[in-house]
Amino acid sequence: MELHRQLLTLVLFISVILHSVDSTLSKNDPKKPKSKPSVIIKEHPQEETVFERELVNVKTTATQILSDYKVYSTKTSERRIKKAVLGYVTPWNGHGYDIAKIFANKFDLISPVWLQVTPTPGGKGYVITGLHDVDKNWMSSVKTKSSQSKVKMVPRLLFDRWSGQDYARLFKEKSRIWELSRVISEAIKENGFDGIVMEAWSQLGGQHSDEMIRIIGHLSNHLKESKFIFVLVVPPPVYHGNAPGMFRHEDFSRLVDAVDYFSLMTYDYSSSQRPGPNSPIQWVKKCVEILDPESKHRHQILLGLNFYGNDYSINGGGPIVGSQFIDILKNHTSAKFQWDDKSEEHFFEYKNQGRHTVFYPSLYSIDQRIRLAAKLGTGISIWELGQGLDYFYDLL
Ligand SMILES: *[C@@H]1O[C@H](CO)[C@@H](O)[C@H](O)[C@H]1NC(C)=O
Repeated sequence: MELHRQLLTLVLFISVILHSVDSTLSKNDPKKPKSKPSVIIKEHPQEETVFERELVNVKTTATQILSDYKVYSTKTSERRIKKAVLGYVTPWNGHGYDIAKIFANKFDLISPVWLQVTPTPGGKGYVITGLHDVDKNWMSSVKTKSSQSKVKMVPRLLFDRWSGQDYARLFKEKSRIWELSRVISEAIKENGFDGIVMEAWSQLGGQHSDEMIRIIGHLSNHLKESKFIFVLVVPPPVYHGNAPGMFRHEDFSRLVDAVDYFSLMTYDYSSSQRPGPNSPIQWVKKCVEILDPESKHRHQILLGLNFYGNDYSINGGGPIVGSQFIDILKNHTSAKFQWDDKSEEHFFEYKNQGRHTVFYPSLYSIDQRIRLAAKLGTGISIWELGQGLDYFYDLL
């Protein structure tokens, strides 16, 4: 009897060991339900801001981000940034339309990415396309909600499908400059916009800057007659390894009277060919200082913030938006976030058919850049409102 009991105990003991080994082995088996309780994602806004909830820290975790990223403060009209704030909105990340409405008072300029201007085939004129995306109801509700900041609607206008010859003609024939200005100005008037954000500089790869400055000067004079706002998208003046960029200090100086704001693309410093931080903070600072070393026109510079990130892998990888970032975190709740002191960005690694490294903005990294902008005296521009996490907007 005694022996029997001892045997039974032994059998039980062994089975406990086996069971625990089994459960250890099954951890990575996707067919079995995970033993770890999943993170509860809070769904509703609450009064306290991310600062009051003490979430703006170097130390951050996947579970903390997952539980809080949807919780923005109900004090949506309070604003921390004094200089101009521009937010881009794209039709392909529709959540940005809601963000612009909810946080309307935190923005001065909203730029829906809607329009292109193209030379008419073989003809003499220019045509604006993309007008089918224009959403007048949305524009008016954003404006109604921005009773304090009085948001201006400045859609982005891309110089799209221009050949070298198209540019050459525009540069040579004065009548074309008039026609282009007329077409753009008409589109602004007819659709109830307040101005435009022009994206054309990078298309020319830094060539023909004299001619481009002349065109921009003419266009801006034309738009100023109707008190329209003119924002110019500009690439960074310097790249990795101090390689000179396509937009220089001279270009900035010559355009500063013609342009209301420069939307400075201080992001995409790294790429899948050379993975790393998206927007190292010292580089951002340097870009502003190169363009305006004497700090005379800083309020016209809108320092660019990326609200997207990158997921780099051995196969390359590429940009990710907020919802993709969240999906990765849900699968890797114990991912270890690291802070890169040099670039001032968070990143983490995970494994999925090889090692991945993810750089995505955090409350703390964004706040560091907002502080930098305040120190430098610049405004900010955000690419783009549909790509960030909802609680980022407490920072603005
Ligand atoms: C998360 O895990 C599931 C199940 O293994 C997988 O189907 C999905 O693609 C993963 N998502 C991401 C973003 O890695």
